[in-house]
Amino acid sequence: MNAAIRAVTRRAIFRGAEVAGVRRGYAGLIADEILPLSARGVGRISHLGGTILGSTRCDEFRTAAGQNKACANLSKRNIDALVVIGGNGSQAGAQALSQLGLPVAGVASTIDNDLCGTDLTIGVDTALNIALEAIDRLKTTASSHHRAFLVEVMGRNCGYLGLMAGLAGGADAIVVPEIESDPEAVATELRDAYDRGKSHALVVVAEGSSYNAERLNAYFDQHRDRLRFQLGVTKLGHVQRGGAPTAFDRILATRLGAAASDYLLDGQKGILVGMQGAQITATPFIDMIGREKPLNSELFHLARSLAK
Ligand code: F6P
Repeated sequence: MNAAIRAVTRRAIFRGAEVAGVRRGYAGLIADEILPLSARGVGRISHLGGTILGSTRCDEFRTAAGQNKACANLSKRNIDALVVIGGNGSQAGAQALSQLGLPVAGVASTIDNDLCGTDLTIGVDTALNIALEAIDRLKTTASSHHRAFLVEVMGRNCGYLGLMAGLAGGADAIVVPEIESDPEAVATELRDAYDRGKSHALVVVAEGSSYNAERLNAYFDQHRDRLRFQLGVTKLGHVQRGGAPTAFDRILATRLGAAASDYLLDGQKGILVGMQGAQITATPFIDMIGREKPLNSELFHLARSLAK
């Protein structure tokens, strides 16, 4: 997100605008925690994960009173446009402000990659690379000790991270919320992998799956004698959201952030800025909020066929 903050700021200043940053997201907007941002002030931040402005969940912002307070704080400071960098919740809030008449541009940013209106969101490439490094490292023990491992990745209700981590990491089984699976099917895939002469077995599970790490592990434990597997479980959790962003993420964030400033300065509003194909695009909130992004099931089947 920092590369996006830098790009929004510098591009807007380059075009003659003044820029302010809001601390702690919508909570800071309601509490009037707004500070001026300068071109120099956003220097040397693109390599840092997270956001220098901070972020928090905010229940008050879901209410009309909270949203009106946020708008009042902006207009009191003569701030006439807002860029919202975030995922589904943030963009739903952005749409609400937009419906109150504020010019808003959203920038697609979440490791879940569950936003419609963009192929990829800021952060997902970094999270994926972290998951992949963990998978590669676990494979060392898995192969040397002939053991089975399960890695759970984040993603909320979206299987994108799990699918891509499994595809890139050569998982023997991938479990995602969008495609029904059960522990017996997973056990069969692992057993088949051994029978085909593999020295290890690896399952990648997306946290939102009905059989997540906890439930799969409990099932395998309960039926250990019959299934003949004990899973070594690693839940990557927030590890995936930390550390330095990849080059891809910094470039994506830079392009989306700069485009958000351009769109607003050119009079386009009520849009999510994303990337579709190789193009930076603006999708009206009305066309993307509340829509579900489908999982690429072709890639799921490709991963399965390559695990054989
Ligand atoms: O939406 C991003 C995400 O990291 C999800 O993948 C995860 O389920 C959730 O946020 C974790 O939220 P929190 O940091 O509040 O526990």
